[in-house]
Amino acid sequence: MTEPREDTATVVTVCDTCKRDGWQAGHGPTDGERLAALVEAAAANRTGVTVRRHGCLMGCAGACNVAIQAAGKIAYTLGRFDPTPEAAEGIVTYAALHADSDTGQVPFRTWPAAIKGHFVTRHPPLPKP
Ligand code: FES
Repeated sequence: MTEPREDTATVVTVCDTCKRDGWQAGHGPTDGERLAALVEAAAANRTGVTVRRHGCLMGCAGACNVAIQAAGKIAYTLGRFDPTPEAAEGIVTYAALHADSDTGQVPFRTWPAAIKGHFVTRHPPLPKP
């Protein structure tokens, strides 16, 4: 993989307040916190992908949610994830493909299985000033 320009790095924003059905207060971290930790670990040695946490991406009913964004590229929201290592690896693998793409569009044939069926929204990039 080539070293991406800093302004084309893909950022995975993980909602760290997401709670799946059945989550109970007082029983440890939220599902979003668990997914965030797994995504951070999966991205630790990946080039071109950074991870940040944010409270509530306003998709609470479809937890767990993440956003995939990079400057000048199409952005996506994905949801309905369980906080599993497989989900985290799929999210980070997809983010790396997004980082490698000039437009942010990733060919379907290369999508990791773990992210299929999890797309919620897409947002075209803002026009350049
Ligand atoms: S708590 Fe995660 S989207 Fe609202």
